[in-house]
Amino acid sequence: MNAVRTIPFLMGMLLLACGGSTAGDGMALDAERKPGAQVYNTNCALCHGRDGKLGLNGAKDLTASTLTKAEMLAVVTDGRNAMMPYKNVLSAKEIDAVVEHVRSLGTSK
Ligand code: HEC
Repeated sequence: MNAVRTIPFLMGMLLLACGGSTAGDGMALDAERKPGAQVYNTNCALCHGRDGKLGLNGAKDLTASTLTKAEMLAVVTDGRNAMMPYKNVLSAKEIDAVVEHVRSLGTSK
């Protein structure tokens, strides 16, 4: 008899716990808003720098790039010369978000 009453109680607690952590977590909200920046800082800043200007090992200054969005998507997805392909590392959604972030680094805002 006890188990019948305990299960709905536990489910209620679980819902409360999930709701509480989402509402109070500013970091999670921030990540929701700019996943592109997160992906960029983790995967791309190493060579391109956080501001896109580092240009390590022949990497391009991304703020000066004249590529269209479609061309950038292609470079990031399939790679080009020393730039490795990211299609096996990032989802199409992440690649789109990171390219949007790269474009926001540029001077043509
Ligand atoms: C290992 C170093 C390295 C990393 C990490 C890296 N890149 Fe690159 N990237 C390069 C190099 C080198 C080039 C120049 C390729 C060439 O000469 O064709 C380049 C070129 C580019 C270009 C083309 C710029 C232009 O105007 O031609 C874009 C866009 C770009 N990278 C975006 C990214 C993004 C987005 C990421 C992260 C997902 C990333 N890169 C990670 C090295 C890197």
